[in-house]
Amino acid sequence: MKPLIIANWKCNPESLKKAEKLFDLIKKGVKDKSNVIICPPFVYLSSFKGKGLTVGAQDCFWKKSGSFTGEISPTMIKKMGIDYVILGHSERRKYFKESNETINRKIKLALKEKLKVIFCVGEKEEKKKVIEEQVKEGLKGVSQGDMKNLLIAYEPVWAIGTGRACSVEETMSSVLLIRKIVSGIYSRKLADNLKVLYGGSVNRQNAGEYKKAGVNGLLIGGASLKAGEFIKIANL
Ligand code: PGA
Repeated sequence: MKPLIIANWKCNPESLKKAEKLFDLIKKGVKDKSNVIICPPFVYLSSFKGKGLTVGAQDCFWKKSGSFTGEISPTMIKKMGIDYVILGHSERRKYFKESNETINRKIKLALKEKLKVIFCVGEKEEKKKVIEEQVKEGLKGVSQGDMKNLLIAYEPVWAIGTGRACSVEETMSSVLLIRKIVSGIYSRKLADNLKVLYGGSVNRQNAGEYKKAGVNGLLIGGASLKAGEFIKIANL
């Protein structure tokens, strides 16, 4: 199975015109489109849906609808025909004070709405403890059956947007740690089949090493905003 290559555009680019240009360039350059997912800001989603590359959202709320100004629900995303959502990204945890508990609520409703969830975990320090807490609390009450629609992205906070990518050895040891924690909650078989991705300063120089080491995918921020760089990563 080829690794998934997921672009997290974050709060970029600043106009639909620029976003369309980036999307079209990526679409033209990527050889195998089946493993590429583009996660643009919400406001651009409808422009890219059904345009030749899979698209996903970067976040969603934990209620289907109601008086929650500014929020976008997983129900709305699913009904638009979008299948993926990123949840628990470290920037959501840091700037919007998302806790393991609120992320858990989001994960549960998103899975209930049959979205595929890219659940991000990663430490600032004290790796084992933080990851264990994030995984256990994030997945509290998530059924074994729903886990087939969940992927975990290991993204150490210190590696995101810093140019300091996590070494392949350390990444693989964290992937193993995540599988061990998941195995403790569910089963060995489920943990072995779970897709675990890596994210944090991935670029065209280092992407191949993670692919070779056997990560199930890469979550790419900065490098996904440069069409040429992202295409090289996807085509490696
Ligand atoms: P980066 O971001 O590739 O810019 O480090 C990764 C992410 O935030 O998912």
